[in-house]
Parts: sequence; C-alpha cells; structure tokens
Amino acid sequence: MHHFEYKNGDLHAEDVRVGDLAREYGTPLYVYSAATLRRHFQAFDSAFSELDRLTCYSVKANSNLSVLRLLAAEGAGMDIVSGGELHRAMKAGVDPAKIVYSGVGKRAHEIREALEAGILMFNVESTGELDLINEVAISMGKVAKISLRINPDVDPKTHPYISTGMKKNKFGLDMVSSLKTYERARDMEGIEPVGIDCHIGSQLTTIEPFLEALDKVLVFYEKLGNMGIDIKFLDLGGGLGITYDEEEPPHPKEFGAALTAKLKGLPLKLILEPGRVIAGNAGILVTEVVYTKTTPSKHFVITDAAMNDLVRPSLYGAFHRIVEVKESGRATRDADVVGPICESGDFLARDRELPDVQPGEYLACLSAGAYGFTMSSNYNSRPRACELVVDGNTVVVARRRETYEDLTHLEEE
Ligand code: LLP
Repeated sequence: MHHFEYKNGDLHAEDVRVGDLAREYGTPLYVYSAATLRRHFQAFDSAFSELDRLTCYSVKANSNLSVLRLLAAEGAGMDIVSGGELHRAMKAGVDPAKIVYSGVGKRAHEIREALEAGILMFNVESTGELDLINEVAISMGKVAKISLRINPDVDPKTHPYISTGMKKNKFGLDMVSSLKTYERARDMEGIEPVGIDCHIGSQLTTIEPFLEALDKVLVFYEKLGNMGIDIKFLDLGGGLGITYDEEEPPHPKEFGAALTAKLKGLPLKLILEPGRVIAGNAGILVTEVVYTKTTPSKHFVITDAAMNDLVRPSLYGAFHRIVEVKESGRATRDADVVGPICESGDFLARDRELPDVQPGEYLACLSAGAYGFTMSSNYNSRPRACELVVDGNTVVVARRRETYEDLTHLEEE
C-alpha cells in the first residue's frame, strides 16, 4: 500500500498534485511519501512484535537524511555498509546502539569511526576483516562486538546480481570454517562474538529461501552453544521483495508469522535489515517527455530522466511501472521510454504499452524509492535530481537539485 493515487485524473503524492511539484521543482524529480515510509516501517516492524527484535533499515536503499530521520523517529535502527552511511545515520540522529555494520571491504578508518560511534555490532565477512577489527579495537582500548556473516548456500531465486547467499557469492564465510573462526574470535582480546548474521539476497518473492536459511542458521547456533559461545543476536538481513509488476511477495505479516513460529522462545534478539520493502514503493521518479520519435522499427518516448537517475532498468533489466502524471485518456501504443544518455542501454522501459504521450507532459516511474537516487550518478555530466518528501500537504526539499557548479566544484579549475 502506498500513497500515490489518482484523484480526478491527477496523480497525487498524498495530498499534493505531482504535476504541481514537477512544475515548481523541475524534473527529473524524486518524490517520497512520508506516510508510506511510516506505514511500511510499522507494518514490517509490528509483524515481529511477539519477538525481541530490532528493525535496522538498510540505508543503501534510500539514504536521504530526511528519510533516515523519519525512520529513526519511528524507532528504526540502521544497517550500514560504509563510513559514509555511518556519517549519514549519525547526522540523522540514529541511536548508534541500533546500528549494525555489514559489507565485505571495511577499511581501518571506517572500523575506527564505527567503534568511536559505539555501534551495536559489526557483521564480519572474512577472517582478514576479523583480524583488522581486533587490531583496531585493541589500539583504541575497546572490545568490538561482532557477528560472523555466514553463507548458508541457499538459492534465493532472484536476479543473479542481487543474490548473495550462495556458495559462489563473495559474501560471508562458509559454515564449516565459520565454527573455527568463532573459536578464534572468542579468544581475541579486542573481539566479543555476540551474534550470527546472514543475508541471502534481495527482492525475494517467496518465504521458503528465508526459512531454509534460518533452519541452517539455527543448527549452527546450536553448535556454537555447545562450544560455549553465547550468541545474543540473530541477524537475518533484508531481502523481502515488493511488487513492481505482477510479483506477489509475501506480506510482512506472513513473513513475521513464519519467522516467529521458528524463533519464539529462543533467548535471541532478532535483527532484520529491510531496505526495499520500506522505501521501494514510497517513492516515484517524475520526468518530462522531451521528444517523441518514430523510426521504421520503434516508437521512442524520450524523457529527461535517464539511466544516471534510475539505473535499475539498464543494470538488471528491472521493470518499473510508468504512468501519466495527468491521465490523458489517449489510446495506447508500444514505446521504448529512453533517456538522453549516449548509450543504447539507457532506457526506463522497453516495448511498453503506454498512452500516446506528448512532449511537455509528465510521466512517473513508480516503485523508485529504493535503489533509485542512491544508485544515481553524474554520467554525461548530468546534475543529479532533486528529492522531495511529501507529508500530507507539506512538501520538503530533502535534497536540492545539483547545479552545473556542483558538477565541477571539486575539480582543479
Ligand atoms: N542487508 C544486507 C547485508 C544487504 O546487502 C542488503 C542489500 C540489505 C540488507 C537490504 O536488502 P533489501 O531489503 O533492500 O532487499 N541495487 C539492487 C539491490 C541491491 C541489494 C544489496 N543488498 C536493486 O536495485 O535491486
């Protein structure tokens, strides 16, 4: 459920006409709905209310400070993967005791910054990283709380680029050697193993792979218990999918009930790291049609948004619904919706049946709230889009549009 709806033929973000926003703030324009973000967070978090749990929103999905502040106010912790994300989370006022730090390539300075901040734990992805965290912690006179990210070798049945919990993926440690690594970690002066972590992939549309991974993790948890290693946190990562097109992912309630059935009564705090399911359908990308052109083989709708604004279609062949900001009632025709970038891979949609839109009209690319702006770039020296947060009838410029000056201000003139 989200708060982007037509009222009298005009697409609205909550109580505000999207067309008015496009005229006032220009395009390409990201628009996020505060009510949707809150609702998604609460729906997800409350699905686990029978368990001791902490919902750590995955910052990479949408890291705008306004979004982070809003979610922190709802009680969210954060899952971060870089010093930059730590900086954002701290700036947004997130309680560091609710921050978990994942990622395969943490640098010494990032580890130091996280220890200084006092985060809840590091999700460790290699023995080299464990050694480095130990070293940094000792040098600071601290003890780092960690979990090892174990790779349960489960197929999440999602796009290969966003599957992470299979043997061939770069993430985590295999289950057999992890047992020894926990023993080593226990004996390290700067390390306290407190958790087990696993994240198998993103945009999962069935529960089974999560349950398969959880079963393996629970067997592993028991083994650690037998070794006298006291685990307090079980971090199952993120990954719950959303509807972009026809997908029917499980509702968070269903997901919560399935995990609760397996975890209830265990002396563990469950940590989850949802990103897409919170932010994905809470945002749209608004774009203006610049030209249309018909070649002997295709009809093209050329928009002012491009792969630098939303790379998901180009990178993963991802589907995003595209709708008119003002319903025209015109007959439909098949079109490729493409951006101005000099690559044939620059498209928002291919062979899509759309009303016969005309230059000057606005389109909205739906489900763009997660991995939209955060994956955007300045390719072709295109200033990055403006981001707005709409809350009822209030509009906040959460990030102003970049200027040409912004493009060059870090460079030698
Ligand atoms: N935790 C970890 C350790 C992760 O690597 C990820 C996502 C998440 C949590 C959040 O997963 P989510 O709940 O959002 O599925 N750019 C891709 C998605 C990459 C996901 C990377 N890791 C896309 O646009 O589909």
